[in-house]
Amino acid sequence: MTYQEVLEQARGCIGPYCKACPVCNGRACKNTMPGPGAKGSGTVAIRNYDAWQEVCLNMDTITENVPVDTHYTFFGETYDLPVFAGPVGAVKLHYGYKFTDSEYNAILVPACVQAGIAAFTGDGTDRTVFDAASKAIGQNGGKGIPTVKPWDRDTVFAKLDAAKASGAKVFAMDIDAAGLPFLKGLTPPAGSKTVEELREIIDYAGVPFIIKGIMTVAGAKKALEAGAAGIVVSNHGGRVQDGVPATAAVLPAIADAVKGKMTILVDGGIRSGVDVCKALALGADACILARPYVNAVYGGGAEGVKVLTDKLRGELADTMAMCGVHSLSQISRDLIF
Ligand SMILES: Cc1cc2nc3c(=O)[nH]c(=O)nc-3n(C[C@H](O)[C@H](O)[C@H](O)COP(=O)(O)O)c2cc1C
Repeated sequence: MTYQEVLEQARGCIGPYCKACPVCNGRACKNTMPGPGAKGSGTVAIRNYDAWQEVCLNMDTITENVPVDTHYTFFGETYDLPVFAGPVGAVKLHYGYKFTDSEYNAILVPACVQAGIAAFTGDGTDRTVFDAASKAIGQNGGKGIPTVKPWDRDTVFAKLDAAKASGAKVFAMDIDAAGLPFLKGLTPPAGSKTVEELREIIDYAGVPFIIKGIMTVAGAKKALEAGAAGIVVSNHGGRVQDGVPATAAVLPAIADAVKGKMTILVDGGIRSGVDVCKALALGADACILARPYVNAVYGGGAEGVKVLTDKLRGELADTMAMCGVHSLSQISRDLIF
């Protein structure tokens, strides 16, 4: 199966909003919410994608002809490449009838492990979404990152208990989900958290904790102060706030401020191994791709996940070789034109 075949199959079963486009660039789905689009004008997801295309790499063609090593170690676990599948919750609402969240995660989580990476899993107002995701992670040796939304204290703690029971070794919170239209005024209540509130949550978690949804140096420093072991530079694909910059645009300054003090992940419009190399050169330690992995699961199940991951690995290795770097630690800002 090729990636194009995966996309073709997805087109027949992925609901009315996602078009499983040849390139997932935020244009066809623009502001469809419900659906995979972005909030308000719908331009932030497009901006995310376009920003990576603007970044150019320097080739270094006179170099040793040795194999490239794309392995990446994340809190003690080594993966084949510095890529994670992103958390996507409420798939039935956004992508139609084919899967419940439980069914989706039951395919995605093991498929990622088999493909040599791991998945962040999503969360929703329906309690079973997080529990099922944690269960899927538990059934796969704790390989996966349960991502809890910023609910009220009791709900967060109850969900962290489920995450702990799963054996997951790293947890995350999409702190920016406070801006999701679906969470406003619902039960359980969700909303912003202070540094002190986050510190209490992170202490309770007792494992390395990633804060997803950081877009400024000040935000990264607050996450560090709260005790986070990592951040995801993310604007939630434009789903939580309109009119914000692309993740590629804010990443370098954030990396300058906190690189080496915490793990830096980035997402938003990253679609190829070339983009992954650019993100690492701009200061990320690893990348998350969310919507492409949804297309992969709908269009090809576990095989679709493998096809996409292999494609990313090949593109990353090829790009590294042409830029004269042979391991991830050799990727630096010097690669950027
Ligand atoms: C339909 C949909 C549901 C999402 N659900 C979640 C979620 O439950 N938790 C979360 O942290 N991010 C969620 N996200 C955001 C993604 O994880 C990611 O940050 C965003 O889509 C940008 O990455 P991408 O351009 O590779 O898709 C969701 C995104 C979409 C499109």
